[in-house]
Amino acid sequence: MSAKLKPLSKNTNWSPTSWQSKTALQQANYPDTDALNSVVDELSTLPPLVTSYEIDRLRSDIAEAQRGERFILQGGDCAESLSECNSNKIAKTLKVLLQMSLVMRYGMKLPVSVIGRMAGQYAKPRSADLETIDGVTLPSYRGDLINKAAFTEEARVPDPKLLLQGYQYAGLTINFVRSLIDGGFSEIRHADDWNLDFASHSTQADEVHRIVESILDSIGLFETFKGEQGRTQANQMIYTSHEGLHLHYEQAQTRFLEKRQDWYNLSTHMPWIGARTADIDHAHVEYMRGIRNPIGIKLGPAMTRSWLYGLLDTLNPDNEEGRIVLIHRFGADKIEQHLPELISAVQNKGAKVLWMCDPMHGNTESTADGIKTRRFDNIAKEVDLAFKVHKANNSRLGGVHFELTGEDVTECTGGARGLADHELTRAYKTQVDPRLNYEQALELALNIIKT
Ligand code: PEP
Ligand code: CO
Repeated sequence: MSAKLKPLSKNTNWSPTSWQSKTALQQANYPDTDALNSVVDELSTLPPLVTSYEIDRLRSDIAEAQRGERFILQGGDCAESLSECNSNKIAKTLKVLLQMSLVMRYGMKLPVSVIGRMAGQYAKPRSADLETIDGVTLPSYRGDLINKAAFTEEARVPDPKLLLQGYQYAGLTINFVRSLIDGGFSEIRHADDWNLDFASHSTQADEVHRIVESILDSIGLFETFKGEQGRTQANQMIYTSHEGLHLHYEQAQTRFLEKRQDWYNLSTHMPWIGARTADIDHAHVEYMRGIRNPIGIKLGPAMTRSWLYGLLDTLNPDNEEGRIVLIHRFGADKIEQHLPELISAVQNKGAKVLWMCDPMHGNTESTADGIKTRRFDNIAKEVDLAFKVHKANNSRLGGVHFELTGEDVTECTGGARGLADHELTRAYKTQVDPRLNYEQALELALNIIKT
């Protein structure tokens, strides 16, 4: 597949460091540039986390999804944290993602690829560079790759060593995910491993149990057929992704592969450009245009037709399939207003893109007590509308993008259990945005196949 592709960076004055001559928003202010440079040098010598073969395979999965032959589920933490890089947490994230993908596969009758927001989702854009509490002003927390969340001067000063630590922890995470998948990850094959208690709070309990039983039956059939107990997910690949925000980190893992005659970012399968850093003339777009990985682009209400054309021309000049994933995140109350215009822009241009819906980032709000949350109903509504608006405009939604965790946190309200505002403090753990918990995530997957 890659042999047919024209190298993106040929004759275009691109290099892994060419972004440095452009405006780079949302970057950390390191007090010691020499220390930063020496860490970047060290990172550049470490072995990669993913391979070009896997990246090409994801590109071909995305191309299939564009053609309506596959669906993509992308999900994980808003911000991974180094202190939570442990086996329990990783296994639970994997479990919920795989269970959701099985539900979708069953309901949509399409293969589903899973992309984790994991193994490197450590850098966050922030709305303000500084944070003031009780008259004390410090740099904002920008993710564990950059500084620490505690509100002390020591914690908030960007520390380049965290780049190395983040990379190592990303390596530990991906290694454990690969081992679990290789071993057939048994946590999803038995009814006991599906925590469906939440369904008893809904009117659809019977249907939910029936769906899960059918899924387990078909897994059983597959195993009998293959004669390979324990290898259910053989050939399943969990791809990784993170926001390609910290450009020194991304640059360090950008390698020219002689065999492919092209540049790949080998820290992740699919980096994405956040809604705040998608300016065509700025550093993030400059960096992304030269790497061969599929690229996600977040599209918010501010996105215009001409801006989108600029992004597509710059990032996918040869209109290759499998290269661009447009992740729209408007909010349940804005999607009907904004999405049709962008769909028509893409259609008029004949651009090959995969459309994905992120129903999280346009639906963030604060409770009366000032707790950042998202309401399950708004999240479910935006996904539902996304399918409908695409269909009504002769387009196709080919994927969904969620912030979720496999744990029993209380960060988003609603869902079958009707989690209320005053219950949010029970297990509110996220360091940045509120995530769906295990039950809410599974409920959403079941909702999607019913729409
Ligand atoms: C995110 O995905 O965590 C994020 C910050 O998204 P966006 O750029 O769409 O706001
Ligand atoms: Co977020």
